[in-house]
Amino acid sequence: MDFQGERSQRSGPRLSSMTGTARWPVTLRSGSVILQPMRRRDQAEWERIRRSNQAWLKPWEATLPPGSQPGPTSYVGLVRTLRRQAKEGRMLPWLVFVDAPDQSGPPELAGQLTVSGIVGGSASWAQIGYWVGQRFAGQGIIPTAVALACDYCFDVLSLHRIEIAIRPENEKSLRVVDKLGFRPEGLRPRYLHIDGDWRDHLVFALNAEEVPEGMMNRWRSLRRNQPPMR
Ligand SMILES: CC(C)(COP(=O)(O)OP(=O)(O)OC[C@H]1O[C@@H](n2cnc3c(N)ncnc32)[C@H](O)[C@@H]1OP(=O)(O)O)[C@@H](O)C(=O)NCCC(=O)NCCS
Repeated sequence: MDFQGERSQRSGPRLSSMTGTARWPVTLRSGSVILQPMRRRDQAEWERIRRSNQAWLKPWEATLPPGSQPGPTSYVGLVRTLRRQAKEGRMLPWLVFVDAPDQSGPPELAGQLTVSGIVGGSASWAQIGYWVGQRFAGQGIIPTAVALACDYCFDVLSLHRIEIAIRPENEKSLRVVDKLGFRPEGLRPRYLHIDGDWRDHLVFALNAEEVPEGMMNRWRSLRRNQPPMR
């Protein structure tokens, strides 16, 4: 695999696992995991996976605090809003697809990964949020997706810091940051409005210089030393 497109000054060999063009909208792939910018044509599949995973996702879903401006109420409205923010350089709204096991059909929608709150200049940071449908859990899909997104943020956007905030109760998500080697930064009380209330979050972060080898390279070598995924 190769990366087609412009390289940033400090990219070095870290982009070698990525495909696509350098600038948004960009599609990234590693093995069977694909990060695909959100498209209108994915509406039916997106609504299906969201509907069938309501109970699985609900405890971890962002909600709006009382009195805030209502957000988009449809998939089309959501895509329009996120695309506008992506155009302004504030967000990277990806859907996560995986190749069908026998490669017979088209890739299946497995979940979503969003890089949000992108700030440049002396901050140069962003946050990552993610989910997969329950049927896709435990296969290392989100760690791979996070590694791809981090390499893109560090190497192409030249961001310096990526943050992931997780409720202390979310053991599965805590495994993701632990396996990828994110640095724990501590508890932020009532940090985000999730599942209808302000919830405490543990914050994890990585600075670009903490992964000189690149996140995909790090994740690949870690996986080589682990027992096979379920
Ligand atoms: C958290 C989440 C994104 C992890 O994604 P993933 O692609 O399954 O990540 P992994 O494959 O690395 O699995 C993470 C952990 O899930 C657990 N897990 C393993 N198999 C599982 C299965 N079949 N079903 C559920 N969880 C499983 C394991 O604890 C695993 O850690 P391990 O690899 O050390 O054993 C996913 O569980 C999810 O979408 N949960 C609901 C939404 C959510 O929590 N979003 C994150 C908010 S911060």
